[in-house]
Amino acid sequence: MLNIAVLVSGGGTNLQALLDAQKSERIHSGRITLVVSNKAGAYALERAVNAGVETAILPKSKDESPADYAQKLIALLRANQIDMVVLAGFMLILDAVFIRAYEGRIINIHPSLIPAFCGEGFYGLRVHKAALERGVKVTGATVHIVNEIADGGPILAQKAIDVLPNDTPDTLQKRVMEQAEWVLLPQEVEKLACRLGKEKKQ
Ligand code: GRF
Repeated sequence: MLNIAVLVSGGGTNLQALLDAQKSERIHSGRITLVVSNKAGAYALERAVNAGVETAILPKSKDESPADYAQKLIALLRANQIDMVVLAGFMLILDAVFIRAYEGRIINIHPSLIPAFCGEGFYGLRVHKAALERGVKVTGATVHIVNEIADGGPILAQKAIDVLPNDTPDTLQKRVMEQAEWVLLPQEVEKLACRLGKEKKQ
């Protein structure tokens, strides 16, 4: 069985969608065996504990280089025999050392239709604020493979959501999460796990 780690920093609603999908066997080609947070108080950790999944806290200190942090993370994941990594609201940009160690096996969810409103500085509510300011009529979510360019890896799936006349960043974020992110991420995690699982057996 393929071991999946989910990396989080905050509330973990996407993690919850993955745990629910695992429970209902919509995710069955891999198993979420570890949740890693860079923040000690992240509610996502509680969600993991409630689902009986092992957790680890790996904070990054200010004077630690991204490459040193990446080595620590790689060591933690290897010690847990992790085959695939899901970034679900993980707020640190990962160093190339990490990307190379798990090349093609890291998946991310971004709350816009890439290439709009993505890249450095576009996270959380900022994404939805920028979409509203630009006046787009459609936004959505994108699941992609992570490479060395922020939000620049190969796109796996996108789901569009209409922007409504009275939307605020909060209402738009909520709708994108409920109707796009929580649907798309579990589907794509299952597909990638299935593909990687077949490669592992060969
Ligand atoms: C989501 O909007 C996700 O697209 C982005 O960060 C947010 C994380 O939310 N990458 P949550 O922690 O999953 O609730």
